[in-house]
Amino acid sequence: MSNREVYHLAARWKRTHRCGELQPAHEGDEVVLAGWVRKVREFGELTFIDLWDRSGLVQLVVTGGSGADLGIFRSLRMEDVIACRGQVRARPPEMINPRMKTGAIEVAASGVEVFNRSKVPPFTVGDKIKASDEMRLRYRYLDLRRDRMQANLDLRHRLALSARNHLSAQGFVEVETPLLVRRTPEGARDYLVPSRLQPGRFYALPQSPQLYKQILMVSGVDRYFQIARCLRDEDLRADRQPEHTQIDIEMSFIDEGDVIAVTEGLIRHVFSAVAGVEIETPLPVVEYGQAMLRYGSDKPDLRFGYEISDCTDLFRAAAFPAFAAAAASGGVVRGISFPPGILWSKSRVKKLEPLVREAGGGGLAVVRVDSGGVDSPLVKHLGAGGTEALLARFEAGAARPTILLLASGPAPLVERALGALRTHLGSQEEAERKDGFRFLWVNRFPLFLPAEGGGWEPAHHIFSLPLEEDLTALERDPGAVRGHLYDLVCNGTEIGSGSIRVHRRQLQERLFEVIGIGRDEARRKFGFLLEAFEYGAPPHGGIALGLDRLAMVMAGENSIREMIAFPKTQSAASLMEGAPSVVEEELLRELHLRLDGPREGE
Ligand code: AMO
Repeated sequence: MSNREVYHLAARWKRTHRCGELQPAHEGDEVVLAGWVRKVREFGELTFIDLWDRSGLVQLVVTGGSGADLGIFRSLRMEDVIACRGQVRARPPEMINPRMKTGAIEVAASGVEVFNRSKVPPFTVGDKIKASDEMRLRYRYLDLRRDRMQANLDLRHRLALSARNHLSAQGFVEVETPLLVRRTPEGARDYLVPSRLQPGRFYALPQSPQLYKQILMVSGVDRYFQIARCLRDEDLRADRQPEHTQIDIEMSFIDEGDVIAVTEGLIRHVFSAVAGVEIETPLPVVEYGQAMLRYGSDKPDLRFGYEISDCTDLFRAAAFPAFAAAAASGGVVRGISFPPGILWSKSRVKKLEPLVREAGGGGLAVVRVDSGGVDSPLVKHLGAGGTEALLARFEAGAARPTILLLASGPAPLVERALGALRTHLGSQEEAERKDGFRFLWVNRFPLFLPAEGGGWEPAHHIFSLPLEEDLTALERDPGAVRGHLYDLVCNGTEIGSGSIRVHRRQLQERLFEVIGIGRDEARRKFGFLLEAFEYGAPPHGGIALGLDRLAMVMAGENSIREMIAFPKTQSAASLMEGAPSVVEEELLRELHLRLDGPREGE
């Protein structure tokens, strides 16, 4: 074939229809289709070919009488990309496939053109994929050629589009903020970009547009949003990637309730538009302290019960050594009850212990209640009245049979341990899980957490406003200060996070002091923000929703990698093109960089 012919192939084989859209109404039509060969089956004189494009699959039938093209049809292999001409016809009744969108018809093929042959693919491109994650990422173009991944790309597209349209209709303006920014610490590690023109200086890639959006409020933008790429060099998990996308929002002259109302409006809109699901608002709001107590987590999954109950007071006077010691030394005793009627064997309950220990908890005390009575070493310490009072504390109450699992120790450890236990119990077969999307707000987080090397660090970021009633504790007891902070949680995933911001220089400087950033350092690192605050900064606040996570929850996927076209691995590598990569010495010289140590992978 000449070059000229190659260039004009697509024009000569202009497709008339997409594979998945053919229906009985097209019966008799002459069509040209284009796509990838999924399956070839030969039955004597007949050859069946499944042809795929983004719209779906259709069956081609080639009969012995197809002339010169028969040889080509028969030579087709998986993932060859072809065009095919033929006539739509009804399938014989016994051949109708109700599981296939186009299962009532087939295309009697009369001509074929091979655009490109495919090497034998490293895995079968289909919805029941057996390939490892590594293989899928290495050959991402094949992985994306699957219906499930195409549906995920499509969902993400519709989600971003409907969010953008909705916010625009609500008077928000999308403003793009820079990707090459000044390094301003925001929690995670920065990706740095060396400056060629200013030797020894670096840009950072933005962890989020946080400071720019605040400055846009000083500029009078009033209602800002951006579908923004954010880059963070942090440890990766199923719901974390080094690059993610936020639906980033900021508003002026508002309070917490306004941000919540705008976000709920957005959530209602996108779930209705993209998933056809009506989300009921207002969403429940749980304060951080309550969330930790009742669920052992600041992002509880409300699709199942297994709420945690505190019973520290019941053990203060009881002579059960471990629990009494915890209660006496400022610790807590808390527990979870099984739903009535579920009575695990002793050995199955015992298997829960390592889970609790891994999460930092001590042992578990077990109380079994059935028709034979209450079985637990605790009973003799609590007495009959005390045992009844204990049972009454729990969700299951006096209903029997039931099992109570109790843990004791410092509150943070017990919270973490019982939180892990609750999640585990909620994932078991017998757990009654509600379908759909269970949203809630968690608010009033502590503003500061103890930093690893001593001192304090911001729980969210350092630009959030303390609660007025906690302000007097700012210098005296930073750990006790709560902030105007709010997280949006759905099905156990943190979907979004935001706060009302500080908009006065003096208060911002006080917050910096708490985390060990003195006046001079603050001026050096954040001078532009502090200065902007002195030119009429309005009260403001906002939120950012993780687009990848929102899409993941909507699609019912377990990892955001399924919602990102070209994600990174656990070690932040891109296996398809091989990033990060070694670069030429010359380039490093231009950037005034010299490497310390050997260069790997040359
Ligand atoms: P935060 O850091 O909590 O807040 O991020 C907001 C939301 O973005 C998502 N997210 C991520 N998604 C995937 N991979 C990651 N590595 C990742 N990190 C965060 C989460 C999270 O809830 N500037 C503030 C927002 C604000 O205060 O307005 C911020 O970035 O869904």
